[in-house]
Amino acid sequence: MSENLKGRDYITTQEWTLDELEEILEMSRFLKEKRKMGLPHNLLTDKTIFLLFFDKSTRTRNSFEAGITQLGGHAHFIDSETSQIAHGESAKDTGIILSRYGEGIAIRHDLVPGEGNAYMREVAKWADVPVINMQCDIDHPCQTIADLMTIREKFGKNLKGLKMAVSWAYTPSYAKPLSVPQGLITLMPRFGIDVVLAHPPEFRLMPEQVKIAKKNAAAAGTKFETTDSMEDAFRGADIVYPKSWGILELFGEPQKALEIGKKYKNWICDEKKMQLTHKDSIYMHCLPADRGNEVTDKVIDGSHSVIYDEAENRLHTCKAIMALTM
Ligand code: CP
Repeated sequence: MSENLKGRDYITTQEWTLDELEEILEMSRFLKEKRKMGLPHNLLTDKTIFLLFFDKSTRTRNSFEAGITQLGGHAHFIDSETSQIAHGESAKDTGIILSRYGEGIAIRHDLVPGEGNAYMREVAKWADVPVINMQCDIDHPCQTIADLMTIREKFGKNLKGLKMAVSWAYTPSYAKPLSVPQGLITLMPRFGIDVVLAHPPEFRLMPEQVKIAKKNAAAAGTKFETTDSMEDAFRGADIVYPKSWGILELFGEPQKALEIGKKYKNWICDEKKMQLTHKDSIYMHCLPADRGNEVTDKVIDGSHSVIYDEAENRLHTCKAIMALTM
């Protein structure tokens, strides 16, 4: 196993080179095979990772907890609300102290634009163990690397010329973070995929992330385009990734954002829209999906859907990230 990534923070994919991201994908593939064959792979015996959550989770928490157990280590779950962080303990003190107890710190802090990424960078500045981003306001790099692994499993290693639609979709449930679409538009063009981003005008992503997506696409010789039509984005797409997100300026007033979203109830991924895509296209979603609003049951449970393979790959990729960095 390569030693060059030991101690590295994994906060955005943008800070990792293509070769380094390839190492994660290769290690993920190796660990997936080991698990399928029932072979031991105790690469982190007796090591501890702290999982600090400022938000809810099913896949991320459980893939990290199960993953480190399978690697021979142990996870401590920390709910920010029941720790001294809720009384105002600083990121500096938290980072230094957890570093003295274990070998890694993973953080989810995704609900407030401008806060989560800055918080984890402050922890990382003081911690002398790797800090892993389990989703912030800017990126969800554990999700997007699992998405990339899934796309490669379906289409092969050479993704050049594939078209991916990253689209906003309607939900009345809650204002979801911007980090998944931002992570997708910045990562996928680097690996040869042409990306079309679709959203109603109010649901724009952080301008800085859109700028990075454009720059990445230009450097890789791929396309990055935007549209305000879900249908246009879906036309001829090989991969569709429709999901909801909130309004950048309204995360402090989520009800207002949900009210605006009601204008766009027709932004649902249904069979009619899927018929616009390539016949062998895949439907992806990071989950949880809002069935009946973001997507119909027929699509999410249908032949195009790869959501369970995608969710499974969260396990293999987070194990790879821990094994390479801790
Ligand atoms: N996709 C994802 O991050 O799922 P959770 O919110 O359940 O962790």
